[in-house]
Amino acid sequence: MTMDLKGPPQTSLAMDAGAVADPSSGRSAFALARLPRIMFGAGKSGELPEIVLSYGPRALVIVRGRGFTATPDWARIGTALFAAGVDLVVAEVDGEPSPAQIDEIVAGVRGGSAGSAVAPVDVVVGIGGGSVLDTAKAVAGLLIPGNSVMDHLEGVGPQLPYRGPSVPFVAVPTTAGTGSEATKNAVLSTHGEGAFKKSFRDEALVAAVAIVDPDLLAGCPPDLISSNGMDAVTQLIESYVSLRANPITDALALSGLAAARDGLLAWYEEAFSGPGGAGAGGAGTGHDGADTGHDGAGAPSSPVAIARERMAYAALCSGICLANAGLGAVHGLASPLGAQFPIPHGAACGSVLAATTRVNIRALESRAPESPALRRYADVGRVLAAGGTGGASGAAGATGAAGAAASAMSDVEARAALVSLLDNWRATLVVPWLSSFGIRESMIHGIILDSRGSSMKTNPIVLTDEELAVILRVSL
Ligand SMILES: [Fe+2]
Repeated sequence: MTMDLKGPPQTSLAMDAGAVADPSSGRSAFALARLPRIMFGAGKSGELPEIVLSYGPRALVIVRGRGFTATPDWARIGTALFAAGVDLVVAEVDGEPSPAQIDEIVAGVRGGSAGSAVAPVDVVVGIGGGSVLDTAKAVAGLLIPGNSVMDHLEGVGPQLPYRGPSVPFVAVPTTAGTGSEATKNAVLSTHGEGAFKKSFRDEALVAAVAIVDPDLLAGCPPDLISSNGMDAVTQLIESYVSLRANPITDALALSGLAAARDGLLAWYEEAFSGPGGAGAGGAGTGHDGADTGHDGAGAPSSPVAIARERMAYAALCSGICLANAGLGAVHGLASPLGAQFPIPHGAACGSVLAATTRVNIRALESRAPESPALRRYADVGRVLAAGGTGGASGAAGATGAAGAAASAMSDVEARAALVSLLDNWRATLVVPWLSSFGIRESMIHGIILDSRGSSMKTNPIVLTDEELAVILRVSL
């Protein structure tokens, strides 16, 4: 199935198990940020040349290094762009972007046009995971102004307002996790002395078009499916219990969580053990076979293609939700974890999600028992517990005994089920412990010192330093 933001791609993705977005929860005043034009569905990346040319013939295409340009996906996309007459400049990037990398790409592409207010290209295309999309987003924002991205980063430097204009940015995700295709910020980091992980954020940076093609996820290895998937799940849960949640993000968060429930474990298990699977440790390509995933009419034709589509949808929803509702303590902690240690963002989120959920619920029960966040955590528990047995059968969904049992849970039971389920997912998805990245008890204080940024401010309750320490300690 394909869509241009007409609705969720599978009927089983709709809200279910009694979880209902409640506009009467005291959050009826809200604003929604600009969204990209969203083109969702298997095979949609075939429309990229037409989209690019609608902005002009000169395109900067940013892709991940380490071999993406040798993949069949790039052979198909690159050939189509050349055949359509697009004048391409290709930049390859590795790892999470730093401010210096952004400035370097901007200066290189501006070249002889430095000092000119004329855009050196007509459009910037990012094809890759969150790091590639964030790189492309930041570069697109600075190609015309030409100044350093350091001028605009939150929490460091002069924090000057961004005045644009941005070159049109087209986001083509090849992983399912960060939701960067729908967000207004690019996360940049430095390492070593004075390390930071901060956002360049402005509504003008939102992609003009997001082409979300689940077929492009087919090369994801199991460890990326796991860490990116836990990032998306975290973003959906945190935005749903956020102090800035609104009825529209609520609906998307619950729909995205139902999709993740039915897609994440099924996709992971298939990539882990299916044809071409990588096996333990996530080594190898993890490509799930030669399955192109759709039947030519855009509808997924195999269970694993359905699972991929569900996760592409969940990640997209998570991006829209976080851009509008904010996040919480998991992302508050993930920021210094990612800056101070060599830990991928999704792994940082996945490693502390269950413990943070447990500590947040306990803190709310003891200090804010009337908080709507307690009911919201119960909503999430019912949605996630309503899944079937999982696997790549494609038969998952909030139907049958599991759905009925989840609907019948009390709020207390649903919250307990949520924490237990997150623990189980963590084990099944082999999410690494923090200690595997060299993090020790003695380092907890330094992590907490840098954790109270923008994400922590929308956590449903202010956690004490000791509560944050408990989260980190049990996640070591
Ligand atoms: Fe995230």
